[in-house]
Amino acid sequence: MNIKIHDAAAIEKMRVAGRLAAEVLEMIAEHVKAGVTTLELDNIMLDHIENKQHAISACLGYHGYPKATCISVNEVVCHGIPGIQKLRNGDIVNIDVTVIKDGYYGDTSKMFMVGEPSLRCRQLCKCARESLYKALKIVKPGASFSDIGDVIQPIADKAGFTVVRDYCGHGIGTEFHTDPCVVHYRNNSYRSLIMQPGMIFTIEPMINAGTWKCKVNKKNGWTVTTADKQPSAQYEHTVIVTEDGCEITTRRAEETEIEPVFHNL
Ligand code: MF3
Ligand code: CO
Ligand code: CO
Repeated sequence: MNIKIHDAAAIEKMRVAGRLAAEVLEMIAEHVKAGVTTLELDNIMLDHIENKQHAISACLGYHGYPKATCISVNEVVCHGIPGIQKLRNGDIVNIDVTVIKDGYYGDTSKMFMVGEPSLRCRQLCKCARESLYKALKIVKPGASFSDIGDVIQPIADKAGFTVVRDYCGHGIGTEFHTDPCVVHYRNNSYRSLIMQPGMIFTIEPMINAGTWKCKVNKKNGWTVTTADKQPSAQYEHTVIVTEDGCEITTRRAEETEIEPVFHNL
């Protein structure tokens, strides 16, 4: 498998795109509350992307996807289509934003909590976040892409949760989704694929409270829910492999637990 190695100019553009994607999540935080519809949130984000950032939503029209962002509530694993659904107290909500700036992509998502979700839901969000953070710690030249699943799977196992198998992270750059498929569960499929400086990809573990099995909504062809309707949580960052670790293009100001640059060697 041939994985693109990006040069310094491309990396600089990825930083800009990543910062914009992160900034959309920072901006929307104050709007995520009980009573707002997911379509209202989508409209605010699209307006911000187009009119403030002078960027493009990568999702809008992507293989026919109808909205600017993905908003996935409770048992929705990913690709929730914004609509008339009002957020309610206790909901856990993933917002996934991908912007294109100057031809380059920034892709990131985080969980928002509405009011006070159940302890189990809060633990699920924490597990998804920490599994992403632990995975970031192993990204460096010489690491295998299979190391990512080796890190994430035991964290989910220990918490009594499961790792989604149907969707993975991906290479990204001047295209939305490229090789490799970044697998989040324990696997050997990419054991011999080794990380090198200049590779850029996403890590985006989806962690389920119950079964890892998913179902795609047959009517809209997009919305993915857990097969057992138990909740799901996800966090996503776009990362660049550096000489001694990685750089997180999509780090948000609130993420005090992680530095924008990891020295992992
Ligand atoms: N942002 C998602 C990802 O992390 C992909 C969304 S594609 C869409 O890869 F069409 F549903 F928006
Ligand atoms: Co992604
Ligand atoms: Co995404």
